[in-house]
Amino acid sequence: MANSSISKFHEKSKEERIKKVASFSGLSKEDIRILKNEGGIYFNDANNMVENAIGTVSFPLGIATNFRINDKDYLIPMVIEEPSVIAAASKAAKIAKKQGGFTMKVDNSYNIGQIQVVDVKVKSAMSSVMSAQKEILQLANSKSKTLSKMGKGAKQVTCKKINSNSGPMLIIELLIDVGDAMGANVTNTMCEGVAPLIEKLTGGRVILRILSNYSTKRLVRGTAIFDKKDIGGQETVDNIILAYQFAANDPYRAVTHNKGIMNGIIAVANATGQDTRAIEAAAHAYASRTGRYGSLTEWKKDKNGNLIGKIELPMSVGTVGGIVNIHPMIKICVKILGTKSAKELACIIGAVGLAQNFGAIRALASEGIQKGHMRLHAKNIAASAGVTSDKINKITRQMIKEGNVSVHRAKEILKEL
Ligand code: MEV
Repeated sequence: MANSSISKFHEKSKEERIKKVASFSGLSKEDIRILKNEGGIYFNDANNMVENAIGTVSFPLGIATNFRINDKDYLIPMVIEEPSVIAAASKAAKIAKKQGGFTMKVDNSYNIGQIQVVDVKVKSAMSSVMSAQKEILQLANSKSKTLSKMGKGAKQVTCKKINSNSGPMLIIELLIDVGDAMGANVTNTMCEGVAPLIEKLTGGRVILRILSNYSTKRLVRGTAIFDKKDIGGQETVDNIILAYQFAANDPYRAVTHNKGIMNGIIAVANATGQDTRAIEAAAHAYASRTGRYGSLTEWKKDKNGNLIGKIELPMSVGTVGGIVNIHPMIKICVKILGTKSAKELACIIGAVGLAQNFGAIRALASEGIQKGHMRLHAKNIAASAGVTSDKINKITRQMIKEGNVSVHRAKEILKEL
């Protein structure tokens, strides 16, 4: 089995890193050429994707090492502008790997499509809809031959009543197995497709026909164990649990705690071309499911005093459709992961979220995060002072030693050199 633990990966040159990743993931010569040339999308692609395009923007792509998820090793592409995130994920994964890595589980890829019916006698409309379930599902499934052929597609119809200031409404929900897609388009198409039938059945008026991004039928969940010996002993384990309890009981802390989780999740989602807004929106709604915003992870210790982390959140991702099949770098990132299924990708992203949270709260509960942050932060400061890459390490070291990390000081040292 390929091994995701690559010694001193961070010390290697860009060429050496690409070589390692290419041999791990079986990248082709063409993939390597695209990676080396930092191949993004061309203006024409951008112009086809959004309106009023005037250009494109690129972000750093890094690789988190050491991940073992469900007994398979992964190198994880992460696209993020924030220093320390990739290093922290790799370090957390290294510790977790000693105990077997991350054990993740995921639901089927069930999307929920909603159809809003107003001006309706809710009770009788509900029973008409429920007795026509089969017809509704057939009509919905006629909108996607691909899903139907795979035995996926619309599976269930449910109804609920909501009361609003504008009166009662009937909300009809389609549960749709979208396979390896994120599935927003097919969900919306099915909802729009059945709307005329719903109006006929209910005698009401359909307003919205749209996917719910609160994808509670597409949860990913998992655990990892971190040996107390590898993380600074029992005191650190206990402090990490206290840090978690803070997040679990105070929304002000929970938002920051979850932000740290999303650092990892969104970085992988960016690299693999996902709808990051959908993931964020669902995650935060899920964190509030008890009525109070809380943590997306849970931390406890086992009978030996080792730390056990758990994560659970909705994860609506796809490996087909959207930008995944268009963007050359995203295609390569998906190839680096070596995953072909949305469910496997959801497991990977969930595991990175857990690793990232561990990295953050471990640092916060021990030496704090500024020490680790400072080196990379200082590098960014030096770069923004115009320091070229041949001098960046020297100037960064000097600024940290002096405890004076600023653009002004970087410029001064540059002059002195
Ligand atoms: C910074 O991007 C993320 C952290 O604030 C997360 C946390 O506080 O848990 C370090």
